[in-house]
Amino acid sequence: MDNSRKRIFITGIAGFIGFHLAQKLHRRGDQVFGCDNFNSYYDPLLKKERAAILAEQKIEVMAADLCKLPKSIEKSTHLVHLAAQAGVRYSITHPEKYQESNLDGFFHVLETVRRYPQIPLIFASSSSVYGLNKKIPFSESDPTDHPANFYGATKKSNEVMAFAYHNLYGIRATGLRFFTVYGPYGRPDMAYFAFAKAIQKGEPIKLYNQGKMERDFTYIDDIVDGIISAIDLGAHFEIFNLGNNRPEKVEKLVQLIEEHLKKKATIERLPMPPGEIPTTFADIAKAQKMLCFQPKISLETGMKHFLDWLQNSDYLV
Ligand SMILES: NC(=O)c1ccc[n+]([C@@H]2O[C@H](COP(=O)([O-])OP(=O)(O)OC[C@H]3O[C@@H](n4cnc5c(N)ncnc54)[C@H](O)[C@@H]3O)[C@@H](O)[C@H]2O)c1
Repeated sequence: MDNSRKRIFITGIAGFIGFHLAQKLHRRGDQVFGCDNFNSYYDPLLKKERAAILAEQKIEVMAADLCKLPKSIEKSTHLVHLAAQAGVRYSITHPEKYQESNLDGFFHVLETVRRYPQIPLIFASSSSVYGLNKKIPFSESDPTDHPANFYGATKKSNEVMAFAYHNLYGIRATGLRFFTVYGPYGRPDMAYFAFAKAIQKGEPIKLYNQGKMERDFTYIDDIVDGIISAIDLGAHFEIFNLGNNRPEKVEKLVQLIEEHLKKKATIERLPMPPGEIPTTFADIAKAQKMLCFQPKISLETGMKHFLDWLQNSDYLV
C-alpha cells in the first residue's frame, strides 16, 4: 500500500459521504479538494453547511457540475468520484436525473481520467447492483445483470463503463459497492433520517412489508476507512463490497429510534413498493483480504451517534 501524501479530488464533496471522507483524508495529511453542484434533491442548505465546515478546514469546495469538471483536477494524484443522483425510490419517478448525473456525468469523469491516465479513479457503486439476485450474502462474483430499479442499472453501468476504459485506455479504476450508509450529517431522504424526524415530530412513518425488509446498515466511519484503503491500494481494476456484513430488520431501526427519542412511532403499514429488494447483505471477504476492511460500529452505536447529532442540529424541524 502507498501511504505517501496525496492530492485527492472528490466529486460530490458536499454530499454525505464526500464530506466525511474529505475530513478524514485532510486529518491524515492529504491535500483535499473537490466539487459539487449543490442540487436540490434534498435540502441544499445541508450541503452548504457541510461545505462551510470543509472551508473552515481550508478544504477547497468548488461549485461545479460533472459535465464541466474543473481543470485543476489534472493536478490531483487521485480522483474519488462520489457525485451521483442517489436514491432508489426517486429513480422510479425521475429516471432522467439518473441519466444526467450517473450516466452522462460518469462518462465525463471517465473522459477526464482518459486524458490523465496517471490519476487512478475510485468511484461509488452500490449494493443496488445486486438487484433481483436471490443468493445472500451478496458477493462480488455473483451475477448482477438483473437490477431491480434504474438507480441500480446506472450503478452497474458505471462498473462496466469503467472496465471498458480500463481495458481500452489502461485507466486504473476501483468501484466500491456501498451498503446503506448512515451517520451524522446524513441524507434526509434515507429512511433512518426521515423516520427519526417524523417520530420526533409525532408524524406517521411509512413502514413497508411490516418492517421485515433487511438492510446491511453501514456506519459512515467504516465506509470512509474502506474508501481510504482503496485509495491507498491503487488497484488496476477491482470491485469491492463495503458493507457491515450484518443485515438488520427495518423494524429494529424504528425500535432504536423510539428508545433513543423516548417517543412511540405512529406507523402506517404498506406493502413492499416496486423496485425494492427484501434484503441486502454484503459478503466482505474480498475487502477484508485486500483492503483490511473491518466494520467496527454496530447499528445501536451508530444510530446513537446519528441521533445525538440530529438532536443538536437544525434538521429536526
Ligand atoms: N449513502 C448510501 O447509503 C449510499 C449507498 C450506496 C451508494 N451510494 C453512492 O455513494 C455516493 C455518495 O452518496 P451520498 O450518500 O454521499 O449522497 P449525497 O447525495 O449526499 O452526495 C452526492 C453529492 O453529489 C452531488 N451531485 C449530484 N449530481 C451531481 C452532478 N451532476 N455534478 C456535481 N455534483 C453532483 C450532490 O449535490 C451531492 O452533494 C453516490 O454515488 C451514491 O449513489 C450511497
